[in-house]
Amino acid sequence: MIRIAAVGDLHYGAGSRDLLRPSLQHLPDRADLLLLAGDLTRCGGTEEVRVLAEELRGMPIPVVAVLGNHDYQTNCEDDVRRVLEGVGVTVLEGEAITLDIDGARIGIAGTKGFGGGFRGAHASDFGEPEMKAFVGHTKRLSDRLEQTLMDLDADLRVALLHYSPIETTLEGERLEIYPFLGSYLLAQAVDNAGADLILHGHAHHGIEKGRTPAGIPVRNVAQPVIRHAYNVYTLDARRQVMAAAGGIS
Ligand SMILES: [Fe+2]
Ligand SMILES: [Fe+2]
Repeated sequence: MIRIAAVGDLHYGAGSRDLLRPSLQHLPDRADLLLLAGDLTRCGGTEEVRVLAEELRGMPIPVVAVLGNHDYQTNCEDDVRRVLEGVGVTVLEGEAITLDIDGARIGIAGTKGFGGGFRGAHASDFGEPEMKAFVGHTKRLSDRLEQTLMDLDADLRVALLHYSPIETTLEGERLEIYPFLGSYLLAQAVDNAGADLILHGHAHHGIEKGRTPAGIPVRNVAQPVIRHAYNVYTLDARRQVMAAAGGIS
């Protein structure tokens, strides 16, 4: 059994001090690792991420994160990453980490991901260079995610994203903005490589649960969706997502 605590879209700012800290105190009793699904800050400022970093400092369980679009807003994403790494958080972008927990090896492949939409209503890399760049960015990140998952030598594999790989977990969002909330290419990448669980955020008005076309469980852990400090997902030896138990909000 591996217990994965996850949350996204914390959107930390200067006024967020101690927002998460009380809930983190009991986290090591409830989960084996904590995954953060991006949008850790409001506008990507280092002063914002430092507030979060101080709350994560000294966590006795591994903390793994991807960044979200908000963390890129001030073009300081490398600094945001360094601040988090400075307190022991692993930040993934087209990369993976493996952790040995209770005799099982869990691999986490992470990318922010990007938009483009979903089958039947998706952008294509055709026409203007700006359009090619937009779709090309999603394709590159998806291809990298697929390769990273394939290369993982692990008993259980988790894909950690910010943007959504499927439409189902966007339900409640305006249909018009779906192309800016995720891309089917992310799900296709994970379905090709295989994984046991996909976590994402970004869709604040979406719903928690869905599945990829190949049946891989997807969970939207944006905090406004899960309405807890974090959710805990348990993966068992049969590689199924058992249940979600809310943390203390
Ligand atoms: Fe967000
Ligand atoms: Fe976002």
